[in-house]
Amino acid sequence: MVSFKPLVLLVIAAFAAYCKAEPKIVCYYDSKSHLRQGPATFDVSDIVPALDLCTHLVYGSAAIDESTYKLIPLNEQFDTVKDNYRKVTDLKKRFPRLKVLLSVGGNADVSGEKEEKNIKYRTLLESTTSRLAFVNSAYTIVKAYGFDGLDLAWEFPENKPKKIRSKIGGIWHSIKKTVGGTKVLDENAAEHRDQFVSLVRELRGAFKAENLLLTLTVLPNVNSTVYYDPRALSPNLEYVVLDAFDFYTPERNPKEADYPAPLYELVDRKPDENVDAQVRYWLSNGAPSNKVILGIPTYGRAWTMDDESDINGIPPLHIDGAAEPGPWTKHAGLLSYPEVCSLLSNPDNTKQAKHLQVKRIPDPSKRKGSYVFRIVDENNNGGFWVGYEDSDTVGYKASYAKAKGLGGVAMVDLSLDDFKGTCGRDKYDLLRVAKMNF
Ligand SMILES: *[C@@H]1O[C@H](CO)[C@@H](O)[C@H](O)[C@H]1NC(C)=O
Repeated sequence: MVSFKPLVLLVIAAFAAYCKAEPKIVCYYDSKSHLRQGPATFDVSDIVPALDLCTHLVYGSAAIDESTYKLIPLNEQFDTVKDNYRKVTDLKKRFPRLKVLLSVGGNADVSGEKEEKNIKYRTLLESTTSRLAFVNSAYTIVKAYGFDGLDLAWEFPENKPKKIRSKIGGIWHSIKKTVGGTKVLDENAAEHRDQFVSLVRELRGAFKAENLLLTLTVLPNVNSTVYYDPRALSPNLEYVVLDAFDFYTPERNPKEADYPAPLYELVDRKPDENVDAQVRYWLSNGAPSNKVILGIPTYGRAWTMDDESDINGIPPLHIDGAAEPGPWTKHAGLLSYPEVCSLLSNPDNTKQAKHLQVKRIPDPSKRKGSYVFRIVDENNNGGFWVGYEDSDTVGYKASYAKAKGLGGVAMVDLSLDDFKGTCGRDKYDLLRVAKMNF
């Protein structure tokens, strides 16, 4: 009689290899980055050096038409008339294993204000007819331009920013509770949570036959506890990227600077505003770890120090609003990774008096994040404080993701990484370090 044992072992080994899927390195591409000037201009050709490292490329962003609820290009002229969708999906000819997804939302499709802000992302969910319009139009666009699937970077309302530290006494206190301040952002949040599960199921149903991928990006400050049901969503998703950053930003917190994306909970901060808490929510509520991907920013958040700021730069610290726009990205309160490097390597810096030089504070604790700052001069000028990711902190985050058994890491986004190699290391330094450490 023939023994089946070797065959059984072979099947088991093959199955094990199949289960141990290749790590996912998800790379976000912000298509608006072509509008930047000088060394920050980012075109499709600039993506190419990243594609030896990325397994997935995510095109940000498409939009939703607020009257028909159809998926539409955000910038029709650039995306479809000038064929940028096609230029990006054509990268698969050179990189046949690459998956290219079209992302909808991503805080790029902003409409309305206050309570009405981005309300179409909620009203769409409320009726089967509008969900169907969305599903059908998404399928059509994804197929028409050769995308491998759709990423839902759904624009649910954001958490309220944290209350600030009182200058007198240094205790945490809440700003006087006004009617607007206590009002629930979304009275139908529980319904929206369930309806989002339905939308995902319906999309999956439409995509399945063609093997199209469906993924989710949890945007910064969208409360997963409120809006996402990991157990119900996961079976129909290829993966979920957690944008576990921007907990502190100059826009949300103009009077106080703090670590924008700490890995672990820090003393005196909200317990869920850190990477670890976000990851644990998804894992302990039924998401398989290999479907959870950790999002890592490639930019810093920059505030203006004034003469009332702590001269030691230790956060949280008093601050006077967003910093001036960066020289290349020209966006108040944000600096790309190369812009942060240039602050440190600028020869003018060393010509300054010692106490006015830019200081870099690394993170040997591996819990908080790095920052650079400069105190104001005698005229109350020139001060700034920037919390950012460097190659060390990106390494810690990628190692954390690996230790937790996550599916991979995501870089948000390529255009703000050192895509030209001006920081004195290889091109795409942060992306490279993330992949190496995962
Ligand atoms: C998220 O929602 C939960 C449940 O409502 C709440 O306990 C938690 O404080 C919220 N997190 C933030 C950061 O607002």
